[in-house]
Amino acid sequence: MIIACGNDHTALEMKKEITAYLEELGHSVLDLGTHTGERCDYPIYGEKVARAVAEKKADLGIAICGTGVGISLAANRVKGIRAVVCSEPYSAALSKQHNNTNVLCFGARVIGPELAKLIVKSWLDAEFEGGRHEKRVNMLDEISARN
Ligand code: RB5
Repeated sequence: MIIACGNDHTALEMKKEITAYLEELGHSVLDLGTHTGERCDYPIYGEKVARAVAEKKADLGIAICGTGVGISLAANRVKGIRAVVCSEPYSAALSKQHNNTNVLCFGARVIGPELAKLIVKSWLDAEFEGGRHEKRVNMLDEISARN
């Protein structure tokens, strides 16, 4: 798969660990920055990752900031994006199985790289179950359409 990755300055080292891990797993990485430790704004990178997924330049996205919160909020503003913040693998897997999440976020100030890799692996291995969940996921788009 092609996985778009993005981060703010707090998550540069974490992003490097995660992109190396994704390549170890056989995926291609689209690294959308930031590429330096200079202070920057997480909405820029949340949007970049989300747009890459929405425009089908990537199959999935991973976005990392200090908490994962800000960058997920940014990603979720892009049409067609379902971004989730996770600090453990169970929710990551369920977010794919039930909510068909297409962007995974976490916080470089919240978890360490080994836990982050477990979360990434659980999320990538999980598959959307469709069925009754499909209707609920469609209802999310209906909320965006009427608000
Ligand atoms: C940057 O200081 C920090 O606010 C950002 O990385 C993130 O945690 C925001 O949600």
